[in-house]
Amino acid sequence: MSIFATKSMEQIKAEAAQSGEHSLKRVLGPVNLVTLGIGAIIGTGIFVLTGQAAAAHAGPAIVISMIVAGLASALAGLCYSEFASTVPIAGSAYTYGYATLGEFVAWVIGWDLILEYALGAATVAVGWSGYLTSILHDLGLQFPAAFSAAPGTLVPVAGGDSVTAVFNLPAVAISLAVTSLLVTGIRESATVNSVIVVVKVAVVIAVIVVGAAFVNSANWHPFIPPNTGRFGEYGWSGIFRGAAVIFFAYIGFDAVSTAAQEAKNPQRDMPIGILGSLVVCTILYILVSGVMVGLVPYTKLGVAAPMAVAIDAARERAAGTGWAGLLNVMPILVKLGALAGLSSVMVVMMLGQPRIFFSMANDGLLPSWAKKVHPRFRTPHVTTIVTGIAVSIAAGFTPIKILGELVSIGTLMAFVIVSIGVIFLRYQRPELHRPFKTPLVPLVPILSAVVSLTLMFSLPHETWERLIIWMIIGIVLYFSYGYWHSEVRKAEAAMGAMGRTER
Ligand code: ALA
Repeated sequence: MSIFATKSMEQIKAEAAQSGEHSLKRVLGPVNLVTLGIGAIIGTGIFVLTGQAAAAHAGPAIVISMIVAGLASALAGLCYSEFASTVPIAGSAYTYGYATLGEFVAWVIGWDLILEYALGAATVAVGWSGYLTSILHDLGLQFPAAFSAAPGTLVPVAGGDSVTAVFNLPAVAISLAVTSLLVTGIRESATVNSVIVVVKVAVVIAVIVVGAAFVNSANWHPFIPPNTGRFGEYGWSGIFRGAAVIFFAYIGFDAVSTAAQEAKNPQRDMPIGILGSLVVCTILYILVSGVMVGLVPYTKLGVAAPMAVAIDAARERAAGTGWAGLLNVMPILVKLGALAGLSSVMVVMMLGQPRIFFSMANDGLLPSWAKKVHPRFRTPHVTTIVTGIAVSIAAGFTPIKILGELVSIGTLMAFVIVSIGVIFLRYQRPELHRPFKTPLVPLVPILSAVVSLTLMFSLPHETWERLIIWMIIGIVLYFSYGYWHSEVRKAEAAMGAMGRTER
């Protein structure tokens, strides 16, 4: 029995039809799918990490980092689109892996996706906490600094002092709040999601338009600050490290593929949803990051709510002009928009994670308690609660930098595997109907894998160590559990035994 046993496309489609997922209503059209994608994409990356990456790594050249990270996402998006239109089944990269590279690789991707979804949600929770404490500050309320960041972080307080943090209470609270919403099945409806997306996009466009009027072009010079002599601190290595860090901002377009079974015409619309949301966000990101580093010196952006800092600078410059009134209310609007937007990203990620566990449990790779569905709420409550507890612990006790970098490296690894998977499937099953074809195969998938690998190699070696430890734990778990309980391998063994009896 091989650890590289694959599931056929036909089997995957048949299982999806049986699992009751077919009862999901097919209601989403191309516009809904693009909206869904934007809802999952715009979050902590643009609202928090952009400022930090500009301050610590790229300087004003964060704009180039944005283009590089956008390119990596676009190439991977072309590969995801081929899979999502050919196998329009929820389960995303885990399912694609099972179909092409076999069970072991599928497990590796599934385990790796925990970094993207669960840790991704934790990262967004920490971003949410930063904007919440900033709003409270504006309202004259001081959130206790000791409970506003990961243990050991020095949090500056009034009077120039700083306090050593114990843990991040708001990040834990929002993670648990989202978990209870998801357990009771109060899913964000498409309408609520659309409203939040409009708010988020409006906030970003407002920052671009209003900010552009007050840019001080001196802040753009030098555009690429000279490297300090250490890899990743400004210069070209800084641009690449910055790209790897803010790559986080693009994560989420692949979540569109998990709605494949709710799309009216998935074959045509999956690629539109994936690529359309990416195009919109890439344009917004390049413009908004350029405006932010034009409004304030990049060194000032390494804070918890950098977009608000940039707008504050515009407000000071606008004093006495006709813009003053608008700019006085903008910081609070930006922060409220960010809070709403970040919550919706958390919902998408914490909804996606239990679904992936659910698919893995159905295949026997995780224990069967992971497929339990709540009798009343009809939600996978056990995996949702396990996910929620893990997310709140990670969010409460880990700094955003460590979280964000680990999410980026994990997602980039999934992109590399999916890109290679496209080439494999072309050779294995050339006859499959592919409504959307990745152009120029194998060139585009190879380029996609190379760009994603380059970004992975731009991340610090500690991030690599954490990824390797995580993957070793995953491999040990596979050989101690999944290998022995896999449904696909059991079926294969049964077929083999039948063959021998007949002979
Ligand atoms: N792209 C999402 C964010 O930036 C994950 O929050």
